[in-house]
Amino acid sequence: MFAKPTAVQTAIEVGLPDHVAQADDIPWVPQGEGVWFKPLRFDLTTGFWVNLLKVTKGGKVNRHRHTGQVTGYVLQGGWHYAERTWVAKPGSMVWEPPGDIHTLIVHEGAEMITLFSIQGAIQYLDDADNVNYQDDIFTKIEKYKKCCADLGIKETELYF
Ligand SMILES: [Fe+2]
Repeated sequence: MFAKPTAVQTAIEVGLPDHVAQADDIPWVPQGEGVWFKPLRFDLTTGFWVNLLKVTKGGKVNRHRHTGQVTGYVLQGGWHYAERTWVAKPGSMVWEPPGDIHTLIVHEGAEMITLFSIQGAIQYLDDADNVNYQDDIFTKIEKYKKCCADLGIKETELYF
């Protein structure tokens, strides 16, 4: 055994222990036509959350703007943003700065799953860049809670 560094011990003492959540215990929450998310972590101290996003072939995530940064890692399938020339595929690491506007389109025949870590809000825009709808950690939690209630399953502790 090795001694824990003092800072780590302090983090545990003030209530910041490590945490594990099992994805298999968490449902795919409907987000839109052909789009689901599976939340893995909600950090209520910063509004940061982590989720798997699944989009079936031919599906898309409507044009939106991020107010914080986003990191994505592609696990399955291929997709691109209508506004960009690059293509994301398994193993791709994607970073999006605050203010980025894009429309996610999944390639034909390829259901995609990507792990996204998201800060801030997701603002869905109309053609004139007016905000039609906003998603943030609170709307994600509400959708997750409703999904668990609808399915009659216990919520996994994801608030860490
Ligand atoms: Fe996005």
